[in-house]
Amino acid sequence: MTAQLINGKEIARAKRLAMKAAVGKMKSEGAVPGLAVVLVGENPASQSYVKGKIRDCKEVGIYSELIHFPESVSEKALLDKIRELNEKASVHGILVQLPLPKQISEQKVIQTISPAKDVDGFHPINLGRMMTGQSSFVPCTPAGIIEMLHAVNVQIAGKHVVIVGRSNIVGKPAALLFLNNNATVTLCHSKTTPLSQYTKQADVLVVAVGHAGLIGAEDIKPGAIVIDVGMNRNADGKLAGDVEFEEVREKASFITPVPGGVGPMTRVMLLENTLKAANHFIRERDLHAE
Ligand code: GUN
Repeated sequence: MTAQLINGKEIARAKRLAMKAAVGKMKSEGAVPGLAVVLVGENPASQSYVKGKIRDCKEVGIYSELIHFPESVSEKALLDKIRELNEKASVHGILVQLPLPKQISEQKVIQTISPAKDVDGFHPINLGRMMTGQSSFVPCTPAGIIEMLHAVNVQIAGKHVVIVGRSNIVGKPAALLFLNNNATVTLCHSKTTPLSQYTKQADVLVVAVGHAGLIGAEDIKPGAIVIDVGMNRNADGKLAGDVEFEEVREKASFITPVPGGVGPMTRVMLLENTLKAANHFIRERDLHAE
């Protein structure tokens, strides 16, 4: 069997097109959705991600502002800027690009962002809401994974989903989200042994570790759906995921490529969360104007 490719780039493009129309409608009603992106330092990967996010906003008509601090910025200066953005009416979503330099507590930063503007879905209030099955902002990568499975008509309910990686950004929220979608979930991590004993049981295998070549054909069940969240640069500078793509695609039923798989979906879900934040803000404003 050769797997069907899940083309995140195309699915995301279609979603941006639909969003462009939705943003146009909002603008015609006098409301412009806005996103503030905060970048600290000169990390090339972070700079590239942030540039992509700003470009996406332009494409769909979302107002965006980039606030760029030097690597040496104090925690207080960053928190003060976030408090200012919390109050700013033209900004509906705030994203602080991670990782942050050592002098700054990521948890303090995340908890300073207003939960209503937390388009990353990292605030404990949003994570707690997701944990208890309430509506919340959902972290963009897990949300993008669910969305791409929907796009290729994969039913999630009843599937055994095995996730490798327990980060706060991907693994843990993905486990919750799949659970909320009625999957049976196994969450694996660096101390899981033997890893392949678990991965081989997956109907849907999500790999989010950051080790190129971690998962080979021998580690999956025939016909599995394989979602590769890894973003690794190999020796010649080319992007590669955590999955040995060429051999795994011969055994899986669906597979996501790197690049062009999960990455574009993560980006588009940020836009979707920003529109959700803006819509909520506008509804509240109109309610109070009545
Ligand atoms: N760094 C890597 N991924 C992410 C993300 O989804 N959001 C933020 N804020 N930083 C990141």
